[in-house]
Amino acid sequence: YKRVTVKSLVDMKKHGEKISMLTAYDYSMAKIVDAAQVDVILVGDSASNVMAGHETTLPITLDQMIYHASSVIRAVKRALVVVDLPFGSYQSDPKEALRSAIRIMKESGGHAVKLEGGSEIKESIKRILNAGIPVMGHLGLTPQSIYKFGTYTVRAREEEEAEKLIEDAKFLEKAGCFSIVLEKIPADLAKKVAESVSIPIIGIGAGNGVDGQVLVVHDLLGITQEFNPRFLRRYLNLYEEMGNAISQYVEDVKSKDFPNDEEQY
Ligand code: KIV
Ligand code: NA
Repeated sequence: YKRVTVKSLVDMKKHGEKISMLTAYDYSMAKIVDAAQVDVILVGDSASNVMAGHETTLPITLDQMIYHASSVIRAVKRALVVVDLPFGSYQSDPKEALRSAIRIMKESGGHAVKLEGGSEIKESIKRILNAGIPVMGHLGLTPQSIYKFGTYTVRAREEEEAEKLIEDAKFLEKAGCFSIVLEKIPADLAKKVAESVSIPIIGIGAGNGVDGQVLVVHDLLGITQEFNPRFLRRYLNLYEEMGNAISQYVEDVKSKDFPNDEEQY
C-alpha cells in the first residue's frame, strides 16, 4: 500500500484526480473503507450523532474522539486519517487548541486534525500548524455552531455570506491548511471557491465543481434512515438488510433451527 499523504492530496488536485473521503469511527468499518481505496478517512464528530445518538455534534468529548480515532488508526493501511477537534476543545484559546491537537496526534496516531471556522480561529490554526500538525478547514454549514444559526439549511446563499466564505477559504490556504471541507453551500459558489485556491476543496452537499466528495459512511450504506438530504446518495439499504438478517436469527433461535448439528461441538 502506498500511503495517502497531505502532499498526495494536493497533487491529486493539481492533476485533476477527484478525492474520495468517508467517515469511520471504529476498527471494523475503517478496515472496509480503507480496503475499498477511499483516500481520506474522517473520524468526524458526527460520531456524536451516528455512534452515540445525540441530536447534535456538541456533546462528544476529546477523550471520546481519541477512542474513535485510535480504533480507526489500527485498521488503516492506506488512507490519510483526519480527526475532528470536537466542540469545546479549541475555541477558548489557541494554547488549548494546540494541546487538544497534540493529544489527538499522540494518543490516537491520527495524521491530521479538522477544525470548523475561518479567520475567527486564525491563532489556533497557526499554533497547531507550527507544531507540525496538518490542519483541514471546514466552512459553510458548520454543525458545531448550529445554535447560532438554528437550522441545517443551505449556507451562503446571500452575497455577503458568499464573499466572506471565499475570503475565509483564501485565508485558510494562506494560513497553511492542506485542504478544506465545504458543507452544504450552492454548487456555483463551491466551484468558485475551488477555483480560487490551490488546496483541495472537499464537498458535502456542495456540488460537482469541487476537488473531492465526503459522506458519512452510515448514510451511504443506508444504516441511518431518518436523514434524507438531497445531496445523499444511498448505495445500500443496510437498515433493512441488517434488520432482516437479525429477525431471521431470532426466528431460528426460537424455532430451535439454530444451532444445527454442524454448528456445535
Ligand atoms: O463530522 C463529520 O462527519 C464531518 C463531515 C460531514 C465533513 O465533519
Ligand atoms: Na465534523
